[in-house]
Amino acid sequence: MPSKMKLTDLNLLKIFNSPESGDLLKNFSIQRFPKKTLIFTPFEEQNLVFIVKSGKLRVYLSFEDKEFTLSFLETGDIFSTHTRAFVQALDGTEILVCSTSAFRETLAARPEVSLTMVKVLGDLLKNSISTIEGLAFKDVRMRLVEFLIKTAEDRGLPASGGTVVELGLSTEDIALLVGTTRQTISQILNEFIKTDLIEKINRRTLLIKDLEALKELNVSF
Ligand code: HEM
Repeated sequence: MPSKMKLTDLNLLKIFNSPESGDLLKNFSIQRFPKKTLIFTPFEEQNLVFIVKSGKLRVYLSFEDKEFTLSFLETGDIFSTHTRAFVQALDGTEILVCSTSAFRETLAARPEVSLTMVKVLGDLLKNSISTIEGLAFKDVRMRLVEFLIKTAEDRGLPASGGTVVELGLSTEDIALLVGTTRQTISQILNEFIKTDLIEKINRRTLLIKDLEALKELNVSF
């Protein structure tokens, strides 16, 4: 990704294999895993740091039947086992493992190593924010759809092409009711207009073209 500046070029293995690095790798031992192996879980007892020597790994959160991918790790990336994430080898993978306490010494000797951590953690943060946004946004959509259905049932009037609903509220008022911002409400309503679920008659009146589809949408959230 271009926005990652030069951090993408940082590869811990290059740093560690450079002649001036001495015996930085002495605390690390190599471990190999075949593809599709779950390598670490949040229940891992050892507090370890590892560097990817080869292959590709996936860092993800898992709860019941849901999974959220937080990051992919590639050669030269670093990660740890003291997180609430699962780590899976996607390809045949080799990692260099060391205890977190030993790694602390490495970090003191070679502070530039922390830049690789920034790169990995930045990626993790980006994907975490996207996940939070998705979850929060989905919730708002559900509450807005519920509001529209309820208002349509309470005071909707059958009209040609659907149900006319005099909302009696401004976008601002609806936002407060649903617990979000005016912008988000407009954004979701525009999405519904684009998908032909609703039509705007005026600022406070909507035509719900397909109430049944809206109800189904609510169930599928
Ligand atoms: C010198 C080595 C390291 C030390 C001393 C250290 C220490 C810590 C400590 C004290 C916490 C808070 C734990 C808690 O609240 O229970 C933490 C959390 C975390 N660390 Fe490290 N860490 C080290 C290396 C790393 C590395 C290399 C990575 C990955 C690049 C990393 C990623 C994380 C993440 C993602 C969390 C949040 C975990 C969660 O809440 O699920 N750490 N670390």
